[in-house]
Amino acid sequence: MELPFAESYKMKMVETIRKSTREERETWLKSARYNLFNLKSEQVFIDLLTDSGTGAMSDRQWSEMMLGDESYAGASSYYKMKNAIRDILGFEYFLPTHQGRAAENVLFSALIKKGDIVPGNSHFDTTKGHIEYRNATAVDCTIDEAFSTTVNHPFKGNIDLEKLKHVLSNNPVERIPVIIVTVTCNSSGGQPVSIQNLRDVYTLAKKYNIPVFFDSARFAENAYFIKLREPGYSGKTIREIVREMYTYADGMTMSSKKDAIVNMGGFIGFRDEQLWKKAQTFNIMFEGFITYGGMSGRDMNALAQGLYEGTEFEYLDTRIRQVAYLGKRLSDFGVPVQMPYGGHAIFVDAKRFLPHIPKEQFPAQTLAIELYLEGGVRGVEIGAILADRDPVTRKNRYPELELLRLTIPRRVYTNNHMDYVAVALANVWERRDDIHHGVKIVSEAPIMRHFTVELERAEVHALAH
Ligand code: F0G
Repeated sequence: MELPFAESYKMKMVETIRKSTREERETWLKSARYNLFNLKSEQVFIDLLTDSGTGAMSDRQWSEMMLGDESYAGASSYYKMKNAIRDILGFEYFLPTHQGRAAENVLFSALIKKGDIVPGNSHFDTTKGHIEYRNATAVDCTIDEAFSTTVNHPFKGNIDLEKLKHVLSNNPVERIPVIIVTVTCNSSGGQPVSIQNLRDVYTLAKKYNIPVFFDSARFAENAYFIKLREPGYSGKTIREIVREMYTYADGMTMSSKKDAIVNMGGFIGFRDEQLWKKAQTFNIMFEGFITYGGMSGRDMNALAQGLYEGTEFEYLDTRIRQVAYLGKRLSDFGVPVQMPYGGHAIFVDAKRFLPHIPKEQFPAQTLAIELYLEGGVRGVEIGAILADRDPVTRKNRYPELELLRLTIPRRVYTNNHMDYVAVALANVWERRDDIHHGVKIVSEAPIMRHFTVELERAEVHALAH
């Protein structure tokens, strides 16, 4: 017999998690104002809110923690991180930051000014937030296929070159300080960008002399998909593919809480020494001195080790197969999900799941609430609440995709947990026609509201009249 697949690690330490009753969850959720971010973690049985900073570090990463050098300037941990970044990603210059959005803040402070235009593929919400906060505009150039969850395209994170060309040729070049390519593209469903597309975007950008930066949170997962799906890459190692990917970038921002498998950390990679120098001042102001930038020495050590582990095929294969396992179980139950399955998460199509809930009553958030009540599973809305209001008109933005993201932390849960999640959601699917409550917003922040929004349940017909 052919030997079956098995995980590429075993467990050395465990953490107890506790189930709750539906009555308990009703009470907790009410006091959380129907915002799952407000729940205490012990009120959650399986936490699929995010894969950000929620992974399990390895024994080697924990060993590296003990070796951290906490010197303010010039720590050996800084050089360990520098070497790992040069070795794996090929960037000569870098600045450490405490997480990904901090990297965006520092970089954009050096690059973006009022009135600028920043094209990209479905910018992540913090990326967009940092652009809009500077009174600049993020223009989404993702291919149309990404917005239909039933279309099975291998690289739904790709940039539509025609859309990009349109932006580049219809705006003064000095108004476009950077193009941001997100690998994998979180907002469209953890979908990868092909090497071909990265190459084409870079070639086009060079014609206009515009720098290209990769938002790199899940760069290794992107490389895994290239290996599996792009002709000519099956024989290459993940690290070879990663190196090639970054030949088509002038720099990168990184949330190391994802593919570097640490609980906290980030950085910016640069090719251009001048830009690196310019960004240093902002790093010192916002993050810390340029050799620690908001990270402790031990965290930089664990991050450097994590970059190596996160780019091993065996690890990535284990992780992404687990995500697909959950996807397959859900598909078998008939639950509508974004196809193909993403790298870090399964994205449930709330418009198809709850077609009778109007968009003004936030179907994806409604679904997140129902799943939590059903089984104590916490997912996250990636839909109209997350999309915020238009900064100019202040009207709600309703994105084409209204999704519930079930995000899988790295090396944390087993496939039994995935089965539990799948059955919990299948139960909600079974009783979907009996869900007569959406939600309405009671209070919200002017930007990035989804973290702190307060909601109330609202009967569906209430709004229709
Ligand atoms: N870029 C992408 C593509 C991300 O997914 C995130 C974070 C960031 C940037 C910002 O990084 O959190 O370290 O400041 N995504 C998390 C998520 C929060 O749940 O998807 P950060």
